[in-house]
Amino acid sequence: MNLSRQVLKSESEIADRVRTLGKEITTEYKGQEISLLGVLKGSFIFMADLARQLQLQARMGFLEIITSRKTSFMTEIVFSSSFQIEGAHVVIVEDILDTGVTLAYLMQQIELYSPLSIKICSFLDKPQRRKVDLTPDWIGFEVPDLHVVGYGLDYQGKYRNLPYLGFVE
Ligand code: IMP
Ligand code: MG
Repeated sequence: MNLSRQVLKSESEIADRVRTLGKEITTEYKGQEISLLGVLKGSFIFMADLARQLQLQARMGFLEIITSRKTSFMTEIVFSSSFQIEGAHVVIVEDILDTGVTLAYLMQQIELYSPLSIKICSFLDKPQRRKVDLTPDWIGFEVPDLHVVGYGLDYQGKYRNLPYLGFVE
């Protein structure tokens, strides 16, 4: 699989969209504090850009989902540091919603810690691949069923630092 020469979303298209998302989320939570919870590793660039478009008090946390290599089932959620969920308005920041299995599991686990609310902001959405009933509250872009890379997303650990969104073929 090699990087396609085709650009799906350019740097400036992404910046425009992230600015709009920032405004929408700011309006939704006006005057309240929120807790942004980024899912590593794919969300790190989106989270950094989105956070700077919010005119809100925002706490930040990250977690990583460790997947068993043998079974490819999720085995563990690891928080990067202590993060207050109880009583907080949590916004989960994801890179892409594909089958939705990862996020559905994550939502269940987070609910156990009694947040005030949980919403999902995913940079990308592949709705035709969904296996569970899950609708994100905000998405950056819908993408076709391709393996997309760049702006945080990888293929076998590569291409996360591309400033635009491309795909491998
Ligand atoms: P799920 O199928 O919704 O559980 O997706 C789980 C994870 O797979 C996402 O959070 C991404 O990290 C990764 N993923 C799914 N599709 C793509 C893709 O096209 N490019 C890069 N990573 C992907
Ligand atoms: Mg992910």
